[in-house]
Amino acid sequence: MISKSLQDAFNEQIGKEFYSSYLYLSMSAYCESVNLPGFAHWLKVQWKEEVSHAMKLIEYVVDRGGRVILGAIDSPPAEFKSPLEIFNEILEHEQMVTASINTLYTLAVEESDYASQVELQWFVKEQVEEEKTATEILEHLKLVGERSGALLFIDRHLRKRDTGK
Ligand code: FEO
Repeated sequence: MISKSLQDAFNEQIGKEFYSSYLYLSMSAYCESVNLPGFAHWLKVQWKEEVSHAMKLIEYVVDRGGRVILGAIDSPPAEFKSPLEIFNEILEHEQMVTASINTLYTLAVEESDYASQVELQWFVKEQVEEEKTATEILEHLKLVGERSGALLFIDRHLRKRDTGK
């Protein structure tokens, strides 16, 4: 059975994953409003991915005999200046999530909870991917600058993101 302290820390992480999903969905809605359907699509796929992260954690807590307690989800920002600003925010946000996963992992190590360590290793690896993807798109957007033709090219490219499930 999972300890109370780890259960609480997992519940906190579940809240962060749901906030991430909300943030991406808000960014997607903004991109729809400024006629960037490719960015909107990419962000909506990411919204789903974040929900799946939260669900993976929920299932783990349940499997360990813990209690899932869902907290309130803060409102995400609704207005953004540009895709560049969005991906700057995404990278910062994912770096915060990485730090949070690492803190949770440290607690699992301190408590010698090996099952939690194994579960969290998936998330440690996933965060490498999350930061890498955000950085790649951010760097492309920096190269593009104010050139709207190139921005539309990226938009078309992002439209191709696989919807996953
Ligand atoms: Fe669930 Fe984007 O990390």
